[in-house]
Amino acid sequence: MHIEDLVKLAGGINNVYRVLLPEGHLSLAVEDPELVGALPSDAVLKQVISEWHIVDLSGDPVSEASLFDLGRKIEARQREKIKQFSHPTSCQYRPAWHIAGPQGLVNDPNGFIYHQGEYHLYYQWSPIGCSHTDKYWVHTTSQDLLNWEWDDVALTPSDWFDSHGAYSGHAVSLDNELMVFYTGNTRLGEERHRQTMQCAAVSEDGKNLRKLGPLIRELPPGVTEHIRDPKIIHREGRWLLFLGAQTTEMKGRLAVYHSEDLHHWEFDRLYGDELGDYGYMWECPDVFALDGDYYFAFSPQGIDSGSEYNTVPHQNRIARLTFGDNDEVMLSQLQTLDYGFDFYAPQSMQTKDGRRVMCGWMGLPDEWTQPSCRSGNWVHQLTALRELSSENGKLIQKPQKELETLRSEVREYELADSCVDLKTKTFELHTQLTWGSCLRLFEDSAYFAELLLDAENRRLIFDRSNTQLEEGDTIREVALDSDTVELQILADNSSLEVFINGGEAVMTARIFTPEAATQVSLKGAAKLQVYKLKAPQMPYLR
Ligand code: FRU
Repeated sequence: MHIEDLVKLAGGINNVYRVLLPEGHLSLAVEDPELVGALPSDAVLKQVISEWHIVDLSGDPVSEASLFDLGRKIEARQREKIKQFSHPTSCQYRPAWHIAGPQGLVNDPNGFIYHQGEYHLYYQWSPIGCSHTDKYWVHTTSQDLLNWEWDDVALTPSDWFDSHGAYSGHAVSLDNELMVFYTGNTRLGEERHRQTMQCAAVSEDGKNLRKLGPLIRELPPGVTEHIRDPKIIHREGRWLLFLGAQTTEMKGRLAVYHSEDLHHWEFDRLYGDELGDYGYMWECPDVFALDGDYYFAFSPQGIDSGSEYNTVPHQNRIARLTFGDNDEVMLSQLQTLDYGFDFYAPQSMQTKDGRRVMCGWMGLPDEWTQPSCRSGNWVHQLTALRELSSENGKLIQKPQKELETLRSEVREYELADSCVDLKTKTFELHTQLTWGSCLRLFEDSAYFAELLLDAENRRLIFDRSNTQLEEGDTIREVALDSDTVELQILADNSSLEVFINGGEAVMTARIFTPEAATQVSLKGAAKLQVYKLKAPQMPYLR
């Protein structure tokens, strides 16, 4: 059967919202089953969980060109439909200078890159409500890594290879072209069988991405359909593509492919055996060079968190990556990127002046109920950008230097078992604390977040039990061995990012307390230097 005929039977393109190809049978998800016409014997209408699918049973081959055309029509409808979610709701928890979505759920940063004089930062977006459904890529651009513009949706889950989500990936800047790689995620049949393909799209300027379709369609041997999030680097004359993968023995591993031309990819093998049983899946690989060494940042699932308070399966780590003579990959020297609550799926890129800057998702999989859902129909955001460097083999992370230009009025306070009302939740705070001190932030008479320097165990405890948090762990800890502890804290209405001892450790957290909870208090004595921060132009404010 021709695609056009099936679309007609489905009640016309306005009744079609998904195209699928389970076992080669063209299927269309229809909005209203009542609009489906009388079906010939080689087509059926059936319910697949909560959806209605009209399925072509004729066995006629379907051309990829006609599938592509149908994808463009579905895409046009999707773009129209989500316009209503592209307008920001007003909400007290909205950040002033972090990237957040206008509505819906935001997760991983994607395609973070400098290309043709502009910074491009895409992100995963579920426009319809605070849940993980059918991911889109939103495109934002910036000249200065501070003021961001919303450039609309770049990829929609419109095609047979990405119908349940244009999942995460990275970008490559070529002379006249930006090429993005992403994972096409589809769910087939009653069992919601996952089908994963690695896809690409191109554009001159990063806007109007034109899908090229799947470049890697088959799974490599020994992995499940959990293989995703392509990262591409160029090394010694050829391209390398990295994917986070799960083996059929349920081990997280790194899959590597090679290519001469970015279009044809040859599987090399799975790497990471030297880490042993290190979780059941590795998501979002990022591979980059820093001061002459390669690093591998990733999001392992199901590893031992190393802390009794850290009970979630979703962790963040970075390892040194070395290439052998034949480009074989060795991983070593694991470190935690962020000891806080909400740091996942980070991506990095090189700025035009050569700095390595990283952005993470401030949120975690499996958590989507927070006060912002009810008050503004949005949840999660991206983290502040952090500059990476290495000192004696240790990774150092500092807030991007551009943030300093947001500083306005500065105030100094000397607190000794006392408190001060900052009258704002958007600030940068610097202090040096002695062991035994306890700093409370975003505080009113009922709510606060607490940073406690536990003298006995020489660790910093970040406690958000007394906040309006609705989901997630409430305590995090990091061991420190310095005589005093220096803190640089970035606050933005519903988040705190704590940079410790000059970037030796970082703790990121979403913190929900009432709008008027603007006090800071200290048990112990210390000087506080507090900058109010100006709001740049943000992508959810058009
Ligand atoms: C990580 C992740 C990625 C996937 C994306 C889907 O948060 O699960 O592995 O590509 O989110 O939105």
